Amino acid sequence: MDNLVEMRGITKRFPGVIANEDVDFELRHGEIHALLGENGAGKSTLMTVLAGLYRPEAGTILVRGNPVGFNSPRDAIDLGIGMIHQHFTLIESQTVTENILLGLDEPRFLMRLSHYDKQMAKIGEQYGLQVTPDVKIWQLSVGEQQRVEILKMLYRGVEVLIMDEPTSVLAPQEIEELFKTLRSMVEEGKSIVFISHKLNEVMTIADRITVLRQGRVTAAGIDPASTSKAELANLMVGRKVLFELEKTQREPGKVVLELQGVSADNDKRLPAMRGIDLKVRSGEIVGVAGVAGNGQSELGEVITGLRTCTGGRILVNGKEVTNRHARTSIDLGVAHIPEDRTHVGTAPNLSITDNVIMKKYREPPIARGTSLDRGAAQEMAQGLKSEYTILAPSVETPARNLSGGNLQRVILARELSSEPSLLIAMQPTRGLDVGAIEGVQQLLLEQREQGAAILLISEELEEIFTLSDRIVVIYEGEIVADGVEPDAEKVGLLMTGGSRSSSKERAA
Ligand SMILES: Nc1ncnc2c1ncn2[C@@H]1O[C@H](COP(=O)(O)OP(=O)(O)O)[C@@H](O)[C@H]1O
Ligand SMILES: [Mg+2]
Repeated sequence: MDNLVEMRGITKRFPGVIANEDVDFELRHGEIHALLGENGAGKSTLMTVLAGLYRPEAGTILVRGNPVGFNSPRDAIDLGIGMIHQHFTLIESQTVTENILLGLDEPRFLMRLSHYDKQMAKIGEQYGLQVTPDVKIWQLSVGEQQRVEILKMLYRGVEVLIMDEPTSVLAPQEIEELFKTLRSMVEEGKSIVFISHKLNEVMTIADRITVLRQGRVTAAGIDPASTSKAELANLMVGRKVLFELEKTQREPGKVVLELQGVSADNDKRLPAMRGIDLKVRSGEIVGVAGVAGNGQSELGEVITGLRTCTGGRILVNGKEVTNRHARTSIDLGVAHIPEDRTHVGTAPNLSITDNVIMKKYREPPIARGTSLDRGAAQEMAQGLKSEYTILAPSVETPARNLSGGNLQRVILARELSSEPSLLIAMQPTRGLDVGAIEGVQQLLLEQREQGAAILLISEELEEIFTLSDRIVVIYEGEIVADGVEPDAEKVGLLMTGGSRSSSKERAA
């Protein structure tokens, strides 16, 4: 076998966690090898070991058949192995070229920057990586910054490029471009490890797939043509996942949520929403598509009363809630699945019981006069725990001990059991495993069935497409399209500002 890299019996522990247990991984010359697994499966850890950043407790690494020992990423780079992490490491105030040269022994590079600029542009061209070498990093979009990271690795002469969840920050077109670049890299004889938890992507781009579950390999180097999404999902989560959501035909009813020219600032006091008009009707799911940071968080927050509007009006069932206390929207039947589950969504130190009754402790049977009926509260929590299949030892388990999927179920139990007329669902499946995702999506469809108006804010286009009755696109704080077709290319173009350039400077 023509293995460029072999990892054998790798075990890597962190305090209290075995991140990788006796893992074997093989990378061939000129292949795109996907490392697939859900959150926490140990993908990043395994590749961070290969990139020389972590030392494993056990196991060996062979490169071109020779055993190697890495003391730093520098050692791995010297053997042609480089990793692009999920969080980039570029210096914002410096140019593309300066960033790429940083840390290299190129003594007088500052004197001949233009020479290097040309060199960068040339490598960029070779791999279809459009970058302008003399602009500063802060002027670039996230997608462009990723290209700089790739260029940096190519300039260092890597033969093996490891990319950790590279598509999570990209819009659909950018993903297409990245895939083209990856393909041209393998044509040039390079090898790529592509880390992902997304089945579709892995099926599209990989030559072979290795699956990790809870730190162990459940499938090694399989051919995408000989497997299916369902089988891969099963290997990832250890049980069957259906991929079938039932969505009925349904005519939307009366307008439940109406935004009239709503504006708001972000936390940095810069305009985040600019005069948004939007209506959501009963029994309808309106999906808001957009690249993170274009005003969608603020949109959810102004409706639920967590953020001040600087202009416009918000009506729920015809009643004005603009800049009212969050309690006003709760009383009008607004439920909220927040983006931040651990801090905004739940109280981590309180029990499941306390978390699910948060909105009901003022009402009977839980409120008894001025006191709280603990028994009634626990009884209700017990019912919700089984109805929403919250897996925990008891209803007195603190929220902080729950996994992401179970924590989200606690939130759903609390919010949905109040039979809301309006549901604001923000990134409702982010970070959940495929099985949990399907369960959450099913619950949203049930709410639609019961006549709730649902505003779905999600960065997962597939989720928006599957669930929405109507799709709107948000870009730089404006709704740039209302009622677009579920077409990734069209929506993607709108999400990135249509024909506008993606670079902040050029857009200005
Ligand atoms: N630096 C660290 N310290 C402690 N635990 C860690 C660290 N990095 C990862 N882990 C744990 O190791 C496990 C595997 O994590 P990771 O490799 O990041 O998974 P993946 O990339 O597949 O999501 C998880 O349980 C995670 O919490
Ligand atoms: Mg990871």
